[in-house]
Amino acid sequence: MSITLDASQTALRAKARELANGPVSARAAEVDRSEQYPWDNVTLLKDAKLLGMTIPPAYGGQGKSWLDAVVVIEALSAACSVTGRIAVETNMGAISAIMAYGSEDQKKMAAAMVLDGDKPAICITEPEAGSDASGMTTRADRRGNRFVVNGKKHWITGGGVSRLHLIFAKVYDEKGNEEGVGGFLAIRDETQGLKIVKREPTMGLRGIPEAEIAFEDMDLPPSALVIPPRGLRKGFADLMNAYNSQRVGAATVALGIADGAYQLALDWSEEREQFGRPINEFQGLQWKLADMSIKLAAARALVYGAAKSGEGGFPDMLLAAQAKVFTSENAISVVNDALQFFGARGYSRNLPLERMARDVRMFTIGGGTAEVLRNVVAGAILKKKLPQTRDGWLKSAD
Ligand code: FAD
Ligand code: COA
Repeated sequence: MSITLDASQTALRAKARELANGPVSARAAEVDRSEQYPWDNVTLLKDAKLLGMTIPPAYGGQGKSWLDAVVVIEALSAACSVTGRIAVETNMGAISAIMAYGSEDQKKMAAAMVLDGDKPAICITEPEAGSDASGMTTRADRRGNRFVVNGKKHWITGGGVSRLHLIFAKVYDEKGNEEGVGGFLAIRDETQGLKIVKREPTMGLRGIPEAEIAFEDMDLPPSALVIPPRGLRKGFADLMNAYNSQRVGAATVALGIADGAYQLALDWSEEREQFGRPINEFQGLQWKLADMSIKLAAARALVYGAAKSGEGGFPDMLLAAQAKVFTSENAISVVNDALQFFGARGYSRNLPLERMARDVRMFTIGGGTAEVLRNVVAGAILKKKLPQTRDGWLKSAD
């Protein structure tokens, strides 16, 4: 499927590229080196109206499509993956779940926070429940009409800089019966009992913290519940449905990083001479460039197609998973090849290639690993439930 951008999308991309090639790229190395969240880039995105674009106009946003967001994220990520991720998480993921499932008050509050520069955190993963997200043990116990939340999440992007948190927990009634997974809103520094425990030392994407977060008798009013449990599975399915937008966003960041690295390699292949000729006169490198361009074109078609599939709702589960698996794996290979074009220079911290290689490595892991997403793809094409637990297989064999 080939997707052509319309005039407004081309203009949006040009605006994002201008920022990317100017101030964003100028700060990218420093963001990585200092490991500081780039608040100045948040201001740039806010001033350029690239934060919260997908929020409907009734809540102060522009009602932009997933594809609009994707072209912006791709352009920003080519220069600075951290800034690309900020664009993902202010347009997709938690904010999109709140805008889809929240009450009027929740939507107004979340939209205002995001448009003012807050990147919401989405809290799903736990130390003992990673790929097996539905095995989470964080619990929300009903006490009268309030909820008391206890548990721990880790690898939460933005932990310590994000204010708004969308937290997933198993809900239990007063008698201790499980009602299913629900989604709750809490605000760092306002909600008692939400504690940022520690920051993870990461390989790449260092300008954005990944944190462990604990909930200690976190007392929430009924108005904090965004996604009700609705039976043992439905709340969780709602969460995962919204999460398909974030998967497309993550794939887009990987695509952007790979495209940025490819463009650098293309230019360098003309500039660098060995044996008295530009290195792109060697067929060994011409074929590498050809393969890189093919991988990028295929990845872009998958990502744009998945984004398009979400018009009026959320991206399709199968298309989002296919796009993320293919793009994340091929982006690693494209960046690795691009680094090779630079020889020793590619291995130096003076050039962005080594940072890109560290940053891009993440995308086969976060947001659903490539292996788990292959399970999602297989389940969808086979139209079969593919339970991963031993007892699940036994039950499905009955
Ligand atoms: P595990 O689930 O322990 O997996 C270990 C290995 O086993 C993997 O290779 C995996 O693919 C494989 N495996 C597991 N189950 C299966 C199976 N059924 N079939 C085949 N292979 C399998 N989480 C959040 O909630 N919020 C965030 O903001 C967030 N941000 C993140 C940012 C970064 C930079 C990273 C690295 C992670 C982030 N995560 C976040 C966590 C991420 O979603 C999890 O790391 C991911 O879901 C995998 O869980 P795990 O790390 O526990 O790996
Ligand atoms: N989009 C829409 N619905 C989804 C979905 C998605 N991406 N993933 C799961 N669901 C739905 C299922 O269709 C199912 O609904 P049903 O009960 O009506 O059939 C329900 O959610 C439970 O899914 P199932 O696959 O049966 O759950 P499971 O207990 O085997 O859990 C997952 C498997 C979903 C946790 C696993 O496939 C997964 O995605 N793990 C990665 C978690 C992740 O991405 N974490 C990132 C945190 S940042």
